[in-house]
Amino acid sequence: MAHLNDCLSYRTGRLYVESVAAERIAREAGTPTYVYSARLIREKFQELDSALGNLPHLICYALKANPNRSLCRLLAKEGAGADVVSGGELRQAIDAGIRPGKIVFAGVGKTEDEIILALRSGIRMLNVESQEELEAVTRLAKRVKRPALFAVRVNPGVDAGTHRHVATGLPDSKFGVVPAEALRMYRQARTNPWLKAVGIHCHIGSQITRVQPYQQALDSVLKLASKLRSEGQHLKYLDLGGGLGICHDQEEPLPIPAFARMLRRELAAWPGLELVLEPGRFLVAEAGIILTRVLYRKRTSRAHLVIVDVGMNDLLRPALYGAKHPVIPGHSPQRPKIRLNVAGPVCESADMFARGEKLPWPKPRELWAILKAGAYAFSMSSQYNSRPRPPEVLVEGRNFRLIRAREQFEDLVRHER
Ligand SMILES: Cc1ncc(COP(=O)(O)O)c(C=O)c1O
Repeated sequence: MAHLNDCLSYRTGRLYVESVAAERIAREAGTPTYVYSARLIREKFQELDSALGNLPHLICYALKANPNRSLCRLLAKEGAGADVVSGGELRQAIDAGIRPGKIVFAGVGKTEDEIILALRSGIRMLNVESQEELEAVTRLAKRVKRPALFAVRVNPGVDAGTHRHVATGLPDSKFGVVPAEALRMYRQARTNPWLKAVGIHCHIGSQITRVQPYQQALDSVLKLASKLRSEGQHLKYLDLGGGLGICHDQEEPLPIPAFARMLRRELAAWPGLELVLEPGRFLVAEAGIILTRVLYRKRTSRAHLVIVDVGMNDLLRPALYGAKHPVIPGHSPQRPKIRLNVAGPVCESADMFARGEKLPWPKPRELWAILKAGAYAFSMSSQYNSRPRPPEVLVEGRNFRLIRAREQFEDLVRHER
């Protein structure tokens, strides 16, 4: 079956994550439950790291994909830094043991408190997204007496060919500034003792499956870096963002060897420049699944419908972007299949995980799994319909452990007065 690998497989007809039976996890942790394979996360990190070879680089894990401390720690041990977009993520990254010198901080709406936290923590660089933000950074750097190390986030106006909700490099995007404005910002910073330009940043979108948009974005930022160099301003870091696409359903993933070849070729003429990448989804999406049980089965006038216990509050992407996540049975995948719709219990018609997919007609309480749910699943979850969030489990070989407990009723009302 497509989408399976040595970290997610059927053994004698039963679904396993590494060497742990999915049914065992479901019995002990209940359903729905997010389950992650530690080995696959390590393998993804190593795949990218070794493809980049001896090109000076730092892989900064984008915490927004999944900020769980255990996953951050695991990646930190592999050598990852972090890409954060809020004070909360910055604190989570430091808390997980990621050195501040390996953390970059982007976001169009950083608050004063967040900027001060970043300055005091001594992060690698603030990726500044507007002239007014640069002014705020200057003022706050002076106030806390810590010169600000920064990059300007450039919007290169590249169409990365992704869903419009995850494209960030288009001309009308809210992210970054156009190259001409970035140049003005760098020039203005030169004479300011509280500003130190150390890098240049861009991030053109998410789930990018072709090398060419990256090449275009790189051309644009290198042009600007050349101009700065000719004016005597030498940058240390070139941060090309994240967005490395995976195969969610049937699309081709970004070819990592070709991507890395392009980067090595283009950056060969820039020996003093360290590449920063900010992948989120690429590192953790495929390592995660959601275990869910079938609650009810019924026939509508048009379709066979299966209701499962995971809802759009636990996995928002299908409702938000029309994203597809494969759904597979927890055992005996070879049974006869029929076309099914799979829906969650949330009171919204958008709460659907499959439409017309070929799957076996399940038994009551049967265990199923929704795949590619390691990224933007838990991190986008909510308590909508007053549903406590599911727990998270990390599998390592024959062992597994809870890395976040199941929320309880008290968690729903804790902050109410
Ligand atoms: C600035 C920035 N960097 C990195 C990422 C990570 O993207 P992905 O998970 O697609 O790699 C995002 C995602 O929105 C982002 O906005």
